[in-house]
Amino acid sequence: MLELQHLSYTVNAPEGATEILKDVSLTIPDNKLVVLTGPNGGGKTTLARAVMGLVTPTAGRILWNGQDITALSITERAKLGISYGFQQPPRFKGIRVKDLLGIASGKRLLSKGEACNYLTQVGLCAKDYLDREVDTSLSGGEVKRIEIATILARKPSLMILDEPEAGIDLWSFARLTETFGEIRAREACTMIIISHQERIISLADEILVVDRGTISRRGSMLEVLPDIAKSTQGGCPAVYGEEKK
Ligand SMILES: Nc1ncnc2c1ncn2[C@@H]1O[C@H](COP(=O)(O)OP(=O)(O)OP(=O)(O)O)[C@@H](O)[C@H]1O
Ligand SMILES: [Mg+2]
Repeated sequence: MLELQHLSYTVNAPEGATEILKDVSLTIPDNKLVVLTGPNGGGKTTLARAVMGLVTPTAGRILWNGQDITALSITERAKLGISYGFQQPPRFKGIRVKDLLGIASGKRLLSKGEACNYLTQVGLCAKDYLDREVDTSLSGGEVKRIEIATILARKPSLMILDEPEAGIDLWSFARLTETFGEIRAREACTMIIISHQERIISLADEILVVDRGTISRRGSMLEVLPDIAKSTQGGCPAVYGEEKK
């Protein structure tokens, strides 16, 4: 179980202190698929990065299976089964896809069949990719899918994916959502997926809307989507005089 207790994150920007996360408290039970959605700049990535240890909260605690992990490093969190897929994944010049999958799986010699299985789950054909370097020669969508394949190879107990749909074509996206659905059905791990895609949202056990650093709404798709549809009608609230104080 993942618990966030009164999590806040404030940065000192030139215009003064900015509160990016504001006293967020949240519990996510094991093996659930939770989707974080909401407007750009709402704080989704910051929240996910705080759980992975890429951002140090200025207040609050993060508990994973009852253990306080707030002060643990990324590596220590990874050892506890937490894995994070970047909104814009890094590239690794000189490292081949099969090496990356091998490292992720913890096996020195990952069989071709196993590597192929991970790549198939993200809609990639192993024979075209296993020997490719994870460098700038790969397209944005390819590198994103390879990163997700390495996360699958890690067999994490908590998988956090930041907009896995970004830059991915419709066919591969369909395969990817199938994979998320299968993981959820097997109850293989807890998934936190940041997404704006209805197809991913429809798989979720719960949807959390992150807006202005808080969870502004949570519930099932049927509960949350009509609210989102309503709040996204019209124009800029500052221009239309509806801005919240
Ligand atoms: N280190 C920082 N310094 C200043 N502002 C920051 C910093 N990190 C994040 N922010 C700001 O915090 C807000 C939340 O950013 P975040 O990346 O978490 O949003 P998001 O919900 O993931 O947005 P998107 O949907 O565009 O990916 C943004 O306004 C961003 O500019
Ligand atoms: Mg983001």
